[in-house]
Order: sequence, then C-alpha cells, then structure tokens
Amino acid sequence: MLSVGVQRAGVSLARSGVAACAARVALPAIRQMARGYATPKLQEVDFSKLEIQHCVPSVKKTKTPAKDLVFGRTFSDHMLELDWTSEDGWSHPHIHPFGNLSLSPSCTVFHYALECFEGMKAYKDKNGNVRLFRPDMNMRRLERSCERIALPSFNGDQLLECIKELVRTDKDWIPDQHGFSLYVRPTAIATQPTLGVGPSAAAKMFVICSPVGPYYKTGFAPVSLLADPKFVRAWPGGVGQYKVGGNYAPGINPQTEAANRGYNQNLWLFGNEHFVTEVGTMNFFVLWKNERGEKELITAPLDGTILPGVTRDSILQLCREWNEFTVSERPFTMKELVKAIKDDRVVEVFGAGTACIVSPVKNIGYEGTDYAIPLALGNAGELTQRLADTIMSIQYGEVEHPWSVVIDRAEPNAQKMAHAA
Ligand SMILES: Cc1ncc(COP(=O)(O)O)c(C=O)c1O
Repeated sequence: MLSVGVQRAGVSLARSGVAACAARVALPAIRQMARGYATPKLQEVDFSKLEIQHCVPSVKKTKTPAKDLVFGRTFSDHMLELDWTSEDGWSHPHIHPFGNLSLSPSCTVFHYALECFEGMKAYKDKNGNVRLFRPDMNMRRLERSCERIALPSFNGDQLLECIKELVRTDKDWIPDQHGFSLYVRPTAIATQPTLGVGPSAAAKMFVICSPVGPYYKTGFAPVSLLADPKFVRAWPGGVGQYKVGGNYAPGINPQTEAANRGYNQNLWLFGNEHFVTEVGTMNFFVLWKNERGEKELITAPLDGTILPGVTRDSILQLCREWNEFTVSERPFTMKELVKAIKDDRVVEVFGAGTACIVSPVKNIGYEGTDYAIPLALGNAGELTQRLADTIMSIQYGEVEHPWSVVIDRAEPNAQKMAHAA
C-alpha cells in the first residue's frame, strides 16, 4: 500500500506543473524507491479485455465507390482506442464508432511531436478471406518507435489481436477487387496535458482504417527523383529508423521543391560522399552490374538512417531465395551510381513500400544533370514487375505463404473446412 501512495504522490507532483524540473529529477528517484516495495503491476494491453461498441446501422457511413477512392480520404465505421497512464498502465482496448478525439491543447503530442505510427494493409482474397501481410513486423517497428520517443511500451502481439478484431469488424470496408485494400494506421501519441519536454505520464493508442485503391490504376507510372544533397532526411544517431511523425513534416518542403523543379520525389542523400539512402517514403533499390561485373541488387544498409521497411525486407528475402544475382545491403554513393549509369551498367532502379509495393524510377536529377534509368518493359524493369507480381500474389492469397495471415475466413470456406473436419 505504501508503494501505491509513493507512486501516486510522484505522479501528482509531476502533474502539478509547480516545479516541472524538480519533478523530473524527483520522479525517477521516487519510482526507484517505490520499486523496492511491492509496486502494483501496470495493466498490459490485453486482447481478452477488448470491448466492442458497434455503430448503429443508421449512422453507418456511405461507402465511396471503389473507383473513386483516394488514398487516406475516407475512413471506415470503427476505430480502436486505448489509453495509458503511468499509474495504471493500459486501459481496456475499445473498438467504437469512428469519431473525433477530444484532447487538451496542452498535450505534449502537439508541442514536442511525441507521436509515432504504422502503415499496414488488409486484403480480401478471391474467396473473401481477409488477410494481413507480415503484421508482426509492423508491431515490432511500432514497439521500437514508441520506445525511442519515450512513449509507453506495449505488447504488440496483443495489440495486433485487437487490430485484427477491428479489421474483422470493418471487413465490409475492404473492397474486394484485386489491388484494393484497407489501409490500417496504428498511431501512438503522448497525451499528458502539460508543457515541458519529458516523458509523458499519459498516452493514447488508436487505430483507424481507410479503404484504398491500387497505387497504379493503369499500370506502373515510373517516377523521376531529385537527388539534392542540401536536403537531409536522417543522420547517424538520429531517428531515421523509427516511424516517428517528426521525420515526416520536414520532408514536405523538399517534396514541394522537388515537384516545383519537375520531379516526383526526393532521393535522400547523406554526407559529403552523398550516400544514397532512401526515396520519399520508400526504400531504394538498384539492380546493376557492379564494378566486379556481377549482377547485384543493392540497397542501403540498416545503419539507423533508413526505415527498416517491411517491403524492403520481403524483397531482400525473395531475391535471396531466387538466388539469381548477388543481393547486398551496403552503403553506396551517388558517384558510384552515376558512374554505373554512364557505363550502362544500371539495369533498373525502384522504390519499395507498403503503399505501392514497388515504384519504378525513370530518371534521377543530380548536380544539374538528369540521368535516365532503363525501363526494360517500357514502364518498369523486369525485376520490378516480377517483385510486384510475386508480392501481390502473396498478399491476395493466390499462393500460400506464411507472410500472408488469414484473419477472417469467408463463410463458404469455413463451411468446407467444417465438413472436412
Ligand atoms: C521513410 C520510409 N521509408 C520506407 C518506407 C517503406 O516501409 P514499408 O515497406 O514498411 O511500408 C516507408 C513507409 O512506411 C517510409 O515512410
């Protein structure tokens, strides 16, 4: 009991705002003391405690026709929400009708960007089963992002079970045409309603879903990239490897400048050597004949400056399994890339991410010169096309693969299975 009192006293001291600095110094010491006693166990995220409040049919939203879907504009009927406090841990997860949040303008998320998020998709296969693609990787990345910005830790496996239930609740929102999906956006924010840079004593996790169409409606649209070293997205010791909101706002002006100069996206470079890191919000791959004459697929290494993409990892694993060329994760520079383009050794170049799977590159602008990239199939290279086809066939369950996780079985299949059993 004593420890409860001590811990509560610590929190109220921190919240009083009277001496935020003193509180920051005092709080860890008080917690340390409290740990010596029987500290009450904080609640974990617990799927078994999930509460669901369904939308009443009269307030269900009208669905946008699949052909008119624009990324991130429409949202499904429900959302998942759970709160955390340093006193109690995680609240019961709650699925409820999609709606606005009500937060104090003093919440730390609004001032110091204590926010991180994920991006994943749910797919409906041709039998009507609902699938997720490697969702465990998104959970592990969200756990790491939260940890990096001092948001509370959570059990990603339990959160994933709650997300699966949210997707099942809104499965009617997953368009059943091939190429369409439900984009799922888990988000964590700090909700302590006080100013002062420090760990937040309160946080909120919420998950919203948005039906999305195929990234390329009429086949690949290769992109042009601006590689201007004056823009730096991330640096060693920074947070480039985490999916924190603070990484994205500073990328908007460079993106606008790239657009004004006639390019689709930024190719992010780093250092005096102009190391090639990633592109826009995608990882970046080059298939070339390297200086040793080997065919090699190369991408920047996970050195902390790039996001460890789920698509990136999938591409690396698939290409390693195919074992048809060398697959390398190692640093490479614009100088090497430009030399390879000039020597006619570049086979194809593409970006990779959840939104598009792969995005062929047709052109890179660097130090005043535009370098054309080959597109063997007209709008994409052969490897780009093959990777898009392979990954989509896994996502839509056309080939059985452990990466595609069925979270809801459609009725006829369920019946067949019941018969078989
Ligand atoms: C900066 C950045 N790099 C790469 C990616 C690709 O990651 P993923 O394949 O997990 O979508 C993303 C998208 O999340 C991103 O924002």
